[in-house]
Amino acid sequence: MLPEWDQKYSINNPKIDLQHQKLFELAAKVEEFSDRSIYQIELKKIIADFFNYIKIHFQDEETYMHEINYPYLSQHKLMHKQITHSMIKLIQNIKSTNDLKEKLYTIVNSWLIEHILQHDAMIEYWRKNTHEKNQKNNSDKEETIKPRIFSYQCQCEGRIHKISYEIHLKIQYSKAKFKCKKCLTDLVYCKDLTEN
Ligand SMILES: [Fe+2]
Repeated sequence: MLPEWDQKYSINNPKIDLQHQKLFELAAKVEEFSDRSIYQIELKKIIADFFNYIKIHFQDEETYMHEINYPYLSQHKLMHKQITHSMIKLIQNIKSTNDLKEKLYTIVNSWLIEHILQHDAMIEYWRKNTHEKNQKNNSDKEETIKPRIFSYQCQCEGRIHKISYEIHLKIQYSKAKFKCKKCLTDLVYCKDLTEN
């Protein structure tokens, strides 16, 4: 089950929030047709709508990140590029309606779950923290979002490394390598061990 839009996903920008809501609605459509038969023409129309909407949304979100001087703009842009690329590939390699449904569901699911809920949420986390530092007196008025911690493994048995968002982005999007000081092997991201 895909999550529904909730105010807690707000990034404090009405335009972007509205776009995110619309994307949740489009994703719900994708989920709905994954259980029933659908004509390929209908499916293609939904994909085209989704794709066009995502492109506009990414541009607007990037403009917003630029305006607030978001420090992880380049990595975030790269994520957008990867999502757009995987959607183009999906549209180009349609084998059957079922194949398309399955792949689209994966993209939408990982896009919504991993991108809006994790990475877009970090835009607001960063903004709020920066804002609160500047206006210390008001800090208790707003609910504080906890920073996300990412789990990585090395070759040491059962050892989990808890990594900050900043380092996680460096490893995933700037191709940086971080080694375990004990076993000296590269840290590998463990999605399943990272809490949402
Ligand atoms: Fe984004």
